[in-house]
This record gives sequence, C-alpha cells and structure tokens, in this order.
Amino acid sequence: MKERLELLIGQEAIANAVDRLAKAIDRDYQQRSPVVLGILKGSFIFLADLVRAMQTPIQDIEFIRVSSYGSATVSSGQAKILGNISEATIANRDVIVVEDIIDTGITTSTLLQALQRYHPASLKLCALLDKPDRRRQPVTVDYLGFTIPDRFIVGYGIDFDQSYRQLSAIYTLKEL
Ligand code: IMP
Ligand code: MG
Repeated sequence: MKERLELLIGQEAIANAVDRLAKAIDRDYQQRSPVVLGILKGSFIFLADLVRAMQTPIQDIEFIRVSSYGSATVSSGQAKILGNISEATIANRDVIVVEDIIDTGITTSTLLQALQRYHPASLKLCALLDKPDRRRQPVTVDYLGFTIPDRFIVGYGIDFDQSYRQLSAIYTLKEL
C-alpha cells in the first residue's frame, strides 16, 4: 500500500510546545516529585523530550501498554490494558500520564479509571495532541500540546501500522 505524507507540525513548533508543557508542569509540581507514566508505544519520543525539558525532579518513570487500533486507522471502540502496573507505583503518588494523542478518549479514560483504583495522591493527563472531533469518552487533558483536526497523523513516535514513528515532525497520512 502507498501513502502520502504532508507536514502538519514541524520540529520547532513541537519543541516549543514541549517546553511550554514542561514549564507548566514545573509551576504546578513545586515541592512535589511526580511519577511519569507513559503509554506505549506512541508516547516514547514525546515523553523523552518532555522529561528532559522539566526541572521538577521525577520520582519514577514507568510505561504501560494499552491496545486500541491494531492495524486499522479507525478505533476498535475498546481498550485493553496490557501488562500491569504495581499498586505501589501509584498509591499516594502524584502521577502524570503521558499520551501521544487523544482521539475517541477510550484509551485514556480506561487507563485513568483503572489508575484511580490505586488511589494516587493526584492524577493528571499530559497529551501532545488532541482530536476532539472524534471523542466518545470524555477526558480532561490537563496539559495539552496541540488541538488538531480529524486527520490520521504519524511521526514523533506515532505510527501507522508500526511505521513512521522515527520521523522528527508530525505529518498527516493519506492512503493513495
Ligand atoms: P483513543 O483511544 O481513540 O483516544 O486513541 C488513542 C490511541 O490511538 C493513541 O494512543 C494512538 O496510539 C492512537 N491514535 C489515535 N489517533 C491516531 C492517529 O491519527 N495516528 C496514529 N495513531 C492514532
Ligand atoms: Mg498507539
């Protein structure tokens, strides 16, 4: 299958947004040392840049996998948390969940509900991208990089069928 990529958000705009988010987190977490919990795989590049832009000392960095799409470009409508995260990692901690993109909201709302059961001291969501047009589950994004239109995008950690994660910028993808 052939695809065409068009630049949507360039490297400099991404770096500026990451910096803005890191500064907002720094302001909010004075005297606190959060646990940063990345949702694999899409958040790995964003998370790596975000934590290096933060001054706030981080207590722990963890990752979790949540399956949603398989290889289709439309959501299956269900999210499954793969692997488990120990209660001790979350209980009484200040947790920041880091996600690449919020689409239907099913992935993040499923995960946030599951994490609430472990009684974190606080639980916040940081996402690079939001596609609010397709929301099916309400989610509050506490720290957001960009709101984007309902397009399928790739790059900066985000894939189409596992490809394109290595691109430094964010592109819309059209199947030709
Ligand atoms: P949600 O559960 O529908 O909110 O989807 C969230 C997940 O779907 C994200 O973690 C992404 O991995 C994936 N996703 C959503 N939109 C896109 C996109 O435009 N390109 C690639 N992956 C996407
Ligand atoms: Mg994904």
